[in-house]
This record gives sequence, C-alpha cells and structure tokens, in this order.
Amino acid sequence: MLASARTGAIQASVRNAQTAAFSKQASRGMKIVAILYKGGEAAKQEPRLLGTVENELGLRTWLESQGHEYLVSDDKEGANSFLHKNIHDADIVITTPFHPGYLTRELLDKAKNLKLCVTAGVGSDHVDLNAAAEKSLEVMEVTGSNVVSVAEHVVMSILLLVRNFVPAHEMIERGDWAVSDIARNAFDLEGKVVGTIGAGRIGQRVLQRLAPFNCKEFLYYDYNALLPEREKELGARRVADLKDFVSQCDVVTVNAPLHDGTRHLVNKDLLAHFKKGAWLVNTARGAICNAEDVAAAVKAGQLNGYAGDVWNVQPAPKEHPWRYMKNPLGGGNGMVPHYSGTTLDAQLRYAQGTKEILQNFFEGKPQIPANVIIGNKGYATSSYGQR
Ligand code: NAI
Repeated sequence: MLASARTGAIQASVRNAQTAAFSKQASRGMKIVAILYKGGEAAKQEPRLLGTVENELGLRTWLESQGHEYLVSDDKEGANSFLHKNIHDADIVITTPFHPGYLTRELLDKAKNLKLCVTAGVGSDHVDLNAAAEKSLEVMEVTGSNVVSVAEHVVMSILLLVRNFVPAHEMIERGDWAVSDIARNAFDLEGKVVGTIGAGRIGQRVLQRLAPFNCKEFLYYDYNALLPEREKELGARRVADLKDFVSQCDVVTVNAPLHDGTRHLVNKDLLAHFKKGAWLVNTARGAICNAEDVAAAVKAGQLNGYAGDVWNVQPAPKEHPWRYMKNPLGGGNGMVPHYSGTTLDAQLRYAQGTKEILQNFFEGKPQIPANVIIGNKGYATSSYGQR
C-alpha cells in the first residue's frame, strides 16, 4: 500500500514537472481542434453567437497570432468525421455540451498528442473522464459560466408546466378559445413542494429564485450535504433516500451531472414512486432520465408534465418520443433544443472562460481550481460521482 502510494506520488510529481516543462517550451505551434454547433445564417447575422462554427468562440485571431493551428468543425460522428480524422495529432480539443463531440476511450486511445480537453460550457460527461484520468489528460470546463442561464430556464419550465402554458399558447395560435380546456389542468406554484436532485451551483440558484413563490417546502437530494447555514438560507431540507425524496415532491428538477451514478437514475421504478401528477424538469443531461419510461409516465398521467432542453442523443432524432409526448389532457410537454445554457450572455462568459483556460495552459499558470474536472492528480471535483 505504502509503496504504491509512494510510486503514485512520484509519478504525479514527474507528470507535474513534465506538464510545467511542456507548457513553457511548447507554447507555440499547437494543434487545437474545436467541435462547435453550426450557426448558419443566424451566426453570420449575430456575431455574439460565439459558440458556433462560424464565430469560433472568437479565438482564431488570438490563437493564430501566437502561432497555433486552430481547426473548427461540427463534424464529429464516425470514423471519417473531422473529429476522428484530426484527433490523432491534436494537442488540445475544445468541445461544447450543446453539440457534444464525444471523446470516448477509443478516440482518446488514438489521441497520442492530446494534453488538454476544454469544455466550452459546463458538463463534461461527453468526455470519458475515467479514461482521461488514466491517461493523465487534463479536462477543464468553464465552471459557473451558464449556471444562472440554466437556473432561469428551470424556473420558467416549472412555471410553464404547472400553469399549463404550452397548450394554452398553441390554442391561441390555432385560432381557438376554450378557457376551461386549459384551466382544468392549470395550478399555482404557491403551496407546492419543489425538490432538486443535485444541489450544486444550478440547484441552489433554482431554489433561490423560487423563494418568492411561497412554495410549501424545498427539498434536495445530494450525496454532498449543504452546510447547515446554507440549508437555512435556502430554506431547503435534505432527504437522503431518493424514493422517499420524489414521493414528497410536486415538482422535481434535475441538476446533477451525468456519470455512472446518475445515468437512467429516473426510470420506470423511480417514476412509480413520484406523486401521481408530479412535474419533472431536467436541464441537466437527457440520459439521466430513461426516455421511453418518461414518455410512458407522461402519457399515463403519472407525470403531469416533463420539460427540459437536454436529450439523450443530440441532435435529437425526428422520432424521439420527447418531441411528441402529451399527458392525457393534451399538455405537459415543455421540451426545447439544448439552449438553456447558451444564451448570448452565457456564450460571452464561456468563450472568455475558454480563452482564460488556454492562456493559463500556454503560460504554465495554475488554472482556476473550480474549472478543473480532471487535473494532474485525477478527479479534482466531487460532482462526477462518489469516490
Ligand atoms: P455542480 O458541480 O455545481 O453541482 C452538481 C451537484 O450534483 C453537486 O452538488 C453534486 O454533489 C450533485 N450530484 C452528483 N451526483 C449526484 C447524484 N447521484 N445524486 C444527487 N446529487 C448528485 O454543477 P452545476 O454547475 O450545478 O451543473 C450541474 C449540471 O447541469 C452539469 O453537470 C451539466 O450536466 C448541467 N448543465 C446543463 C446546461 C444546459 O445548457 N442545459 C448548462 C450547464 C450545466
């Protein structure tokens, strides 16, 4: 045990020294590959759409002026894709959760020069983090860059489900007017119990923003307990058992990262423990919920509604059940494309944050600790699973 701990420490310090030496001597001439989403005409007309292939996170001039090669594309799937063809000699890969360039173990095996993976945004589940840790790759994200953007979207989604907004608006667009058809499934948020799975940056901001709505209670489920003072500030009570937690909530919002412990966490079994007619909002990651089980629960009225912007496959195929599911009264679907964390305000923050991470890396300076997901000692955060 002792010997292996010592060997580990020696390896880590050698790696640290190598990284520092590398950063100083190789600050020029790196190959940087970015996978972003296509912005089309919108991106040409709106330069603040920084997270697009067209606007390249605003990094090209800066990177090229320092002698780096910067390659940008949205083409990420399959052996002949841009990502797969360029990974073998890339030094740095930048990806975004909005159009995830999946950095699987197989792909990382091919990436012989890779040192750093940067997520322009928050949520690095599209990178095989265990493989990255084993290979001493660093994984950084721009922590906090879009947490307000998502929290606002969660509050909006809770309200639009509880108040039955979407079918009401669709009725107006159709030219109809039948108040009772909408009102028979519209409620107030006041007096309801709202619970968050994951009480990190976004989960806490959601509860903060819901404070004036006079909800009956705020609950949270998280293996990282909040400090008692923080629980008091938020007015939140921790429930340690997930089934017990969901059985007490009128509204559940999912705000935990996707990892082995959260994949398909919300499935048929768990949904059976929800209050009948509860509402579920998931802006964290699509694969935390089982898509078919959620669609069946909405169709049966076990869930009165489901809303979110994240999908288990992105872009979501045309036939995805979440596009079309409805509750028995014809509402309960608040799905949108993955955009809650990519408002123009958020794009500026995550583009600037990406630049800062690159600059620190080039200059061998320490990174902001909160941005480090995998550092040179492996996992640097407790958010991606208990270990
Ligand atoms: P955070 O790291 O501040 O908080 C995550 C919390 O989830 C932590 O308190 C952690 O202990 C908890 N957690 C992890 N596993 C859990 C489990 N099995 N059960 C209960 N709690 C668990 O992260 P932050 O900034 O709040 O973001 C959360 C997630 O939201 C991101 O990882 C990302 O997947 C998603 N996100 C989505 C965006 C969008 O545009 N839709 C944008 C930004 C983030």
